[in-house]
Amino acid sequence: MDKKIAVIMGDGIGPEVTGQSIRVLEAIGLRFGHRFSFEYALMGAVAIDETGDPLPQATLDICRRSDAILFGAIGHPKYDNDPNAKVRPEQGLLRIRKELGLFANIRPVNTYAALEHLAPLKAEKLAGVDFIIFRELTGGIYFGEKEKDEALTFASDKCIYHRHEIERIAELAFQYARIRRKKLTLVDKANVLETSRLWRKIVQEVAAKYPDVTTEYMFVDNAAMQIIVNPKQFDVMLTENMFGDILSDEASVLSGSLGLLPSSSIGGEAALFEPIHGSYPQAAGMDIANPIGSILSVAMMLEHFGMHEEAASIRRAVEWTLQHGFVTKDIDPVNFYFTSTIGELVCDHIAQRIPGEVNKANIEIRKSTII
Ligand code: IPM
Ligand code: MN
Repeated sequence: MDKKIAVIMGDGIGPEVTGQSIRVLEAIGLRFGHRFSFEYALMGAVAIDETGDPLPQATLDICRRSDAILFGAIGHPKYDNDPNAKVRPEQGLLRIRKELGLFANIRPVNTYAALEHLAPLKAEKLAGVDFIIFRELTGGIYFGEKEKDEALTFASDKCIYHRHEIERIAELAFQYARIRRKKLTLVDKANVLETSRLWRKIVQEVAAKYPDVTTEYMFVDNAAMQIIVNPKQFDVMLTENMFGDILSDEASVLSGSLGLLPSSSIGGEAALFEPIHGSYPQAAGMDIANPIGSILSVAMMLEHFGMHEEAASIRRAVEWTLQHGFVTKDIDPVNFYFTSTIGELVCDHIAQRIPGEVNKANIEIRKSTII
């Protein structure tokens, strides 16, 4: 197959982790006989610096003529502490989601036996955790009308949802639940919020079309607690934009590091794949960031293309690195390997260049040493 990928490396560690994903795509192309071509585009703080706009029109054009978008990370500290900044890097990401109609953000959460010691939970709570968060991505408080007065005595963000916005993501989430463990949990705050009551009503209606799926309803405060006390209970978790943002960061600690989690954003005319982590500016350019979240996002991209065997080979390679202790600094602050080394090992595994007996000594040369 021939596939055109728009690559938006973005800010901070975005370019480093995305660079590894591109190598991985090339390794997949070689092994399975596909051709991936890449077109690069700007978004975020880098785009503001170069064009004044966090999402230049050229970027949207490139995305629209591509089969998929691979995105790195967004955000720069120079904007974070400036409440008066008129343009912000994050506006680029919010706008691209809206412009391309990417209303469903899918964030799988699972655990790795090799990393259980890193999670703040006991091992018996972690084994077998496997759920998927469906986060609504183009509505809610993120996109409602914003207001403030000149003197800054008040500010407001309106949370608004329309029936069709809830219906379309609910349908998708139920379809996924059907091919998984057939359980869907709607997370809301229906005891307080009008928007949540609308979500609950519409999800009840959609649920009636999927009698084989068990539907549960959970308040978001309780869900935040249940993710810690009994994460195994979840299969598909469906929720609105901001709750999904918060709960997915929380859930990432179950896997051992925020740096491991991938995501896909789908629904509209394009599909975008990105790790859930941020731009981690303190680590930018140091070759220490974890590329796995981005590499697993590529696996999700390949699934989206129907390349299931290819996606599986990426997942096997990633599991192999984790099992053998080839991990970045976020996972092992003392014995860690560089971002680029992990990318190379994943490619070697895909290309079946890893011998049965790994000669760790050769890899040790590329390892960082802290004395
Ligand atoms: C995410 C990020 C974004 C969000 C930010 C960078 C705007 O945290 O993708 O989860 O809040 O959606
Ligand atoms: Mn987030």
